[in-house]
Amino acid sequence: MTVVAPRAPVAVRLNPVVLPGDGVGPEVTAAAMDVLAVVAERFGHSLDPVSHDIGWVASVTHGVSLPEATLEACVSARAVVLGAVGDPRAEGAPAERRPEAALLALRKALGCFANLRPIKVDDALLDVSAVRRDLVEGTDILIVRELIGGIYFGEPRGRKDGPGGVMAFDTMAYDQEEIRRIARVAFEAAGERQGRLTSIDKANVLESSRLWRETVTAMSPEYPEVSLSHMLVDRAAMELITRSRDFDVILAPNLFGDVLSDEGAALTGSMGVLASASIGGRTGLYEPVHGSAPDLAGRDLANPIGAIRSAGLMLRHTYGLSHEANAVDAAIADVLSSGLRTPDLEAPGTRVVGTGAFGRAVAQALSNPHPDRQS
Ligand code: NAD
Ligand code: IPM
Ligand code: MN
Repeated sequence: MTVVAPRAPVAVRLNPVVLPGDGVGPEVTAAAMDVLAVVAERFGHSLDPVSHDIGWVASVTHGVSLPEATLEACVSARAVVLGAVGDPRAEGAPAERRPEAALLALRKALGCFANLRPIKVDDALLDVSAVRRDLVEGTDILIVRELIGGIYFGEPRGRKDGPGGVMAFDTMAYDQEEIRRIARVAFEAAGERQGRLTSIDKANVLESSRLWRETVTAMSPEYPEVSLSHMLVDRAAMELITRSRDFDVILAPNLFGDVLSDEGAALTGSMGVLASASIGGRTGLYEPVHGSAPDLAGRDLANPIGAIRSAGLMLRHTYGLSHEANAVDAAIADVLSSGLRTPDLEAPGTRVVGTGAFGRAVAQALSNPHPDRQS
């Protein structure tokens, strides 16, 4: 599988399906779309997005969290940009109205089994990291998370009556082909980076992890340029904080990758800066790692960097526009080094602005790039 699409011809029609979703989703997605509009203008592309409902907002309007029209639009699109799903009012709702169920069903329908979650600690943000500067400086990790298998989807799952009252159960299962296809993505990514791959499991306890470890180990000779190591997930949770710099590419099953990737927020200073690309099927799905942040929703407080970076990942992975994606990253870096911050990244000497103003500042930095970055 090609992780990055080949360089595209000059003018590209950027026509993602946009799913703003719940909570802060619409706010951060609007900022990302502002930035994409400037990318289109500066580089001579066209931007032609179509929006659809997903999540709790869709349940309220359409009675289901993943309406047929949304699913159809996504399946026939090249790229989907998603804000977030989730709402406290959804607690106890039936499956078809649960926001998270919509996201899982969408990922499965799109076949995007590989979730790429870069965790790069910006120099400008070293002071807001939860981890000491000398430990975290230079951290640059790519988490490759398996996204449409494992305990999120395993059968059987459900509830039944047992001797101790109601019992509930889930199944963590992987077959060799599921492991191989995600491991291939991770080996290839490691080959293009520092050549170090750490595969995460709980092979000292779980049968599915023993197969995971065995299968990944058996593939290693195909990638002589990559040095493979294995780490138990509990130790990895610790070392991500104490020795984050030592990681290059992390390969993880669905649940472990979900949990470990939020540790990225402790390293980078905020949930709001983390982006993701979900690839492997015909359609790429691009969403920040954070959720709907109900505590911030509707208040112009959310950090849009994760959403903007996710749009950058779309330019790179779906449209083959690496140059444009680099320009987006550079614009974010310029704005951060100018001292502008959303409240989650506030530090002495910075100037705090809202979601919208931060997004506009990134858009502005893109249309007037730093003199060293005119091309
Ligand atoms: P969350 O990521 O929404 O929030 C965790 C913490 O990070 C909160 O303190 C929040 O204020 C902060 N945060 C999140 N996004 C931020 C941003 N852009 N800028 C600044 N700070 C930000 O996780 P949660 O509270 O555990 O979950 C809330 C809801 O979101 C739940 O319903 C959950 O299921 C859902 N969720 C959805 C997604 C998704 O749509 N991809 C991901 C994770 C959680
Ligand atoms: C994420 C989220 C989702 C997941 C939820 C909302 C289903 O936490 O994308 O990290 O667990 O995959
Ligand atoms: Mn998560």
